[in-house]
Amino acid sequence: MPRGPLVLAAVGVLLALTATQVTKRIKENSEPSRFDKAFEVLAPNVWRQGYQWANLGGLVGVDVYTFLIKADGKYILIDAGAPTSDAAEVLLKGLDDVMNGSKLQLIMLTHGHPDHSGALAALVKAYPGAQVVFHEEEAPYLLGHKSYKNLPADSLAYKAFVRVLVSENNFTEAVPASKALLLRGKSGDVADVKGPAGNNAQWLPRQGTLKWQHVPGHAPGQVALIHKPSQSMIPGDAVAHMAAKAGGTPEISLPPAGFTWNNTQARLDALKLASLPFSRAYPSHDLGTGISKAELDAFAASLQA
Ligand SMILES: *[C@@H]1O[C@H](CO)[C@@H](O)[C@H](O)[C@H]1NC(C)=O
Ligand SMILES: *[C@@H]1O[C@H](CO)[C@@H](O)[C@H](O)[C@H]1NC(C)=O
Ligand SMILES: *[C@@H]1O[C@H](CO)[C@@H](O)[C@H](O)[C@H]1NC(C)=O
Repeated sequence: MPRGPLVLAAVGVLLALTATQVTKRIKENSEPSRFDKAFEVLAPNVWRQGYQWANLGGLVGVDVYTFLIKADGKYILIDAGAPTSDAAEVLLKGLDDVMNGSKLQLIMLTHGHPDHSGALAALVKAYPGAQVVFHEEEAPYLLGHKSYKNLPADSLAYKAFVRVLVSENNFTEAVPASKALLLRGKSGDVADVKGPAGNNAQWLPRQGTLKWQHVPGHAPGQVALIHKPSQSMIPGDAVAHMAAKAGGTPEISLPPAGFTWNNTQARLDALKLASLPFSRAYPSHDLGTGISKAELDAFAASLQA
């Protein structure tokens, strides 16, 4: 028998086994009671809502949080949930309950992966006045020109998951270009966001409300946000807080290699975040209620050991 088909079959079996393990691990990590709920208060003017998403025909499941911030009486959503009509419904209902008739002014995306940008189309339709803010290095993916699958990834796991399992069109949710506002550079204040040419910001939180830091290891334009009034950090997927075993205590980890294009940079990102001022960080994938500055410091020290 020629070697080609044998190698392909072996790779297929390996992929199936890996996928089964990952699904098992994620199922063990899922506590249905924590997710699919109303927004919960994390700090004054900061909320989060969890959603349990089964993707790829139920093969892979992801529990993901979306965040809401209120500043000067206006609302900012951070991340846009999973790409299902059910997720959009849960999110819109949750927003309605908290905002009580107010409209979203800004939708910020930590990055464009589908569990962070999924309900974007529904949100943009429900809140036509909202503008969408993300880092300029995420623009090619969010504006629909480029696919994450073609990134020069540094792990075999990424090549297997994103390149093989994810089809060209299903890892990118396009943003209407006329609504886009871009974060540029390494760090800054959301008050300073500018359009692409032609797009003017209609409203931005005032200086000192929301700071951002570029953390590009997981996705090229990923950003972490810090809500200064409450010292809450929203790191996106720069760190995760999941349990290694069923019923185990949640532990801080780097984002999974299978969905992280540059794992060398992801390690540097975690060190960078630990160096910033904040009191509690709320990862998008979290089986607890965030992590303290001291816990992130200890994790950073373990990465350097
Ligand atoms: C919601 O809005 C209505 C109408 O403006 C108001 O009467 C009500 O008190 C508000 N409820 C809350 C919880 O803010
Ligand atoms: C995947 O993308 C195609 C083409 O854009 C679309 O028709 C299809 O509904 C998408 N599937 C999922 C599961 O999102
Ligand atoms: C990944 O990140 C490291 C650290 O910043 C950098 O040196 C390297 O060039 C990056 N890899 C790619 C393919 O860009």
